[in-house]
Amino acid sequence: MAFTLPWAALPAFLSAYAHAQLSNHTVDDGGADSFTGAMISYSNYTEWNFGPRCVACIAHLDPEKVHNHTWHDATYDGSEDIFSLPQNATFKFTGSALYVYGVISNTVDITGTSNTGISFFIDNESVGQFSHFSDGSNAYKYHVLLYANTSLPHKEHCFKLQNGHIGGSASLILLDYIIYSR
Ligand SMILES: *[C@@H]1O[C@H](CO)[C@@H](O)[C@H](O)[C@H]1NC(C)=O
Ligand SMILES: *[C@@H]1O[C@H](CO)[C@@H](O)[C@H](O)[C@H]1NC(C)=O
Ligand SMILES: *[C@@H]1O[C@H](CO)[C@@H](O)[C@H](O)[C@H]1NC(C)=O
Ligand SMILES: *[C@@H]1O[C@H](CO)[C@@H](O)[C@H](O)[C@H]1NC(C)=O
Ligand SMILES: *[C@@H]1O[C@H](CO)[C@@H](O)[C@H](O)[C@H]1NC(C)=O
Ligand SMILES: *[C@@H]1O[C@H](CO)[C@@H](O)[C@H](O)[C@H]1NC(C)=O
Repeated sequence: MAFTLPWAALPAFLSAYAHAQLSNHTVDDGGADSFTGAMISYSNYTEWNFGPRCVACIAHLDPEKVHNHTWHDATYDGSEDIFSLPQNATFKFTGSALYVYGVISNTVDITGTSNTGISFFIDNESVGQFSHFSDGSNAYKYHVLLYANTSLPHKEHCFKLQNGHIGGSASLILLDYIIYSR
């Protein structure tokens, strides 16, 4: 008798197969997912700066040290009207693992903040936070893993990063790239 796979079992079979063949996809802060075309979306859009072209930004990174020479910069600061709402970066993907990378600042510039307080959400559920306090060394640290989740059910997910929180300390985010596995 020939081996036949019942049709009802096919989705489970394919899903198990997909798990065995995980591959990573890197999405740049300003680029598109080469697999789906999806991009990271920024809100409020006007409060996010495209790092390499931002004249007003205090953080001047080395383009050679970030992925694809680009990054996105935003500052939350409850004491300044125009920065007083936390900023979000949202990305939709289908996969079972997610890694989010950024740059952290250790400058001693008194006109800006080098501290960072970020919250992470997956499918509207709060899943973690990242905090950093400047050590005053004046050095940037590149390719810092801000958030990782390797235990996601393999399906479509909506990832959201929120920079700062209302009533909280000022926060600088320098977002570089996202990797997800599918
Ligand atoms: C995907 O990238 C992460 C972070 O670099 C790494 O830890 C993981 O092993 C990679 N997974 C695959 C399937 O290559
Ligand atoms: C690299 O950055 C540029 C400018 O943001 C963007 O147009 C391009 O798609 C990016 N490349 C990749 C591979 O993400
Ligand atoms: C984005 O900023 C504009 C102008 O400050 C404001 O009217 C709008 O409500 C903001 N949107 C969100 C989602 O906060
Ligand atoms: C950012 O996300 C938070 C949490 O989901 C939401 O309350 C807030 O309105 C969002 N802000 C913007 C500017 O999109
Ligand atoms: C997340 O919350 C927003 C606003 O409350 C809602 O429109 C959206 O459908 C929710 N998404 C998920 C995956 O629950
Ligand atoms: C990963 O995501 C799942 C589903 O949203 C969540 O239950 C879990 O706490 C997350 N794990 C980490 C390390 O954030």
